[in-house]
Amino acid sequence: MPRKLKRVPEKDLVMSDIDSVSFYDKEGLLGFLRPVYLMGADIITAIFPKKGVCLDIGCGSGRYTIEYTTRIPLLKVVAFDLSPRMIRLAKKNLRESSLIKPNLNKQINFEVGNMLNLERFRSQSFDAIVCSYTLHHSIDKDEVIYVLDQIKRILKPEGALYIYDLIRPDTIEALKLIEEKFLRDYPSIFRIDTVNSLRASFSAKELIEIVRQSSLNNLEHFISSRGVIILKLYERNRSKYEESKSLKEFISYSKSIKARYISGLKMFKEAGLDLHKLSARQ
Ligand SMILES: C[S@@+](CC[C@H](N)C(=O)[O-])C[C@H]1O[C@@H](n2cnc3c(N)ncnc32)[C@H](O)[C@@H]1O
Repeated sequence: MPRKLKRVPEKDLVMSDIDSVSFYDKEGLLGFLRPVYLMGADIITAIFPKKGVCLDIGCGSGRYTIEYTTRIPLLKVVAFDLSPRMIRLAKKNLRESSLIKPNLNKQINFEVGNMLNLERFRSQSFDAIVCSYTLHHSIDKDEVIYVLDQIKRILKPEGALYIYDLIRPDTIEALKLIEEKFLRDYPSIFRIDTVNSLRASFSAKELIEIVRQSSLNNLEHFISSRGVIILKLYERNRSKYEESKSLKEFISYSKSIKARYISGLKMFKEAGLDLHKLSARQ
């Protein structure tokens, strides 16, 4: 009989361990996280306005921020993370990327900040907001609701939003399977961090329920074995977005990348986490 996997918040909510930070950063440049970043940057490009100010909540070492900002040259980004170590690395990554794309330096500002202190931003001051792999660092659903309510307040009514996160597997067996088959080739530090993150994540159902309880509305959500995307697009982009169908890549993307993802997909299927899409307007 499969055993239900309960949510266990991360022990270290902030990523500050030197090995975890540097491995996470490396994976964002060349490894495991890279395809997720490319996919997300495609979607962000389709749903965001071409110019304005964006807030990136929990930007980590900034690899993702740099990836999507490069594609939207008139976007300015305020990107923050609670971990000073992550922000130091993000600034270094920005300096290096700016050698090739000097405009980036003017576009992005990395700073230390706490997503539980979003009151510091004025109402309706952002044209776009990104929150990627950060919500699962919350202690409980009340913290997530706080963040979502604040997002609603600081985002302009016509603004765009992109939330991405992991989904907690349903059972202990599914988590074990993921660890054994999907994460087998990774150093133990990344394996442990990823398992802890999966355990700390909300189930897709929980997260969508949390969004419903918040003051955010007009959101769409999409679920696949890769995670959950919750978004609000810049309405003037709707036709471009529908034509480009870039979000559909979220479902099919895994097929076009490295073999380990394909075996990962099979494994997810065995674990009863088959691909499915639940798109709903609230
Ligand atoms: C898994 S990383 C995600 C980084 C990046 N957004 C990405 O998509 O790769 C999550 C980040 O959230 C940060 N974090 C955790 N709690 C936070 C908080 N309360 N405020 C801001 N950042 C936080 C962690 O330090 C970590 O760098």
